[in-house]
Amino acid sequence: MFGWQKKAMATPVVDVHSHLIPAIDDGVRTLDKSIEILKGFSKIGIKKAITTPHIHPNYPNTKDDILSGLEVVNERIQAENIDLELAAAAEYFVDDVFMQRVKEKAEILHFGPNYVLVESSFLNKPIYFEACIFELQSRGYQPVLAHPERYRFLEGELEWLLQLKEMGILFQVTISSFVGFYGTIPQKIAISLYERRLIDFLGSDLHGFNQISVLEEGLRHKMVDKLCRSAELKNKSLL
Ligand SMILES: [Fe+2]
Repeated sequence: MFGWQKKAMATPVVDVHSHLIPAIDDGVRTLDKSIEILKGFSKIGIKKAITTPHIHPNYPNTKDDILSGLEVVNERIQAENIDLELAAAAEYFVDDVFMQRVKEKAEILHFGPNYVLVESSFLNKPIYFEACIFELQSRGYQPVLAHPERYRFLEGELEWLLQLKEMGILFQVTISSFVGFYGTIPQKIAISLYERRLIDFLGSDLHGFNQISVLEEGLRHKMVDKLCRSAELKNKSLL
C-alpha cells in the first residue's frame, strides 16, 4: 500500500450488542430511527447486527416481543434494500427471575452456537452472579458478559472480572469505551482488558443514532482497529 493511501476503517463485521427493536426497551423509539442506524452500520462496513433487547425488570420482554419486533425491522430492511443482516438475541439482566428461568430450563435467547449475553447491575454485584453463570454453563450455554468495563461497583479493580474469566465467561467490551464515552474508569478497564488479551467480542451497545459518530471514533482507536483485524476477536465467526 502506498503511504498516501488511507487505510480503510476496520470493523468487527458482526455487531453483537445493540438496542434496535423499536420501543421495547431503552433503545430506539421508532422504526425510522432503527433503519437510520442500520444504514449507518452498513455504511461503516458492518455486515450483520445481532440486536440484543433488554430482558430486565424494567423491560420484561418475551421471546415473542423480540422476534415479532425483529420481523417488522427486517421487512423494512428488505423493502429498502439495506445490505445488512439483522438477527436478534437478548441482553439478560442477572437477577432472581433470570436465575429461576435458567434453573427451570426455560428457553434462553442466544446467538452463534451457544452465546448468551448477560449483564449485572451497574451499582451492586449480585451475590448469585457466579451461581447463575455456572447454571448457564451446565445447560451448555457460553455466557458472555456485556460491557465488563462499565460496572461501577468494580471501582476500577479487575479482580472480579479476572475471577469470572477463570470460570470461563467471555467478555464483550463496548467499542466507544476505548475513547472515553463512558468516562475514564471504563476507558482504563477496556484498555487493561485489551492489554491482557481478555476481550472476546466487541459491541456497539447502540441505543440511538446520536451514538453512531462516537462508534466511528471508537473504531478508529488503534486498539479497536488491531482487535478488529485480529483472529482473537470472535465477532467475525458469527457471519
Ligand atoms: Fe445493552
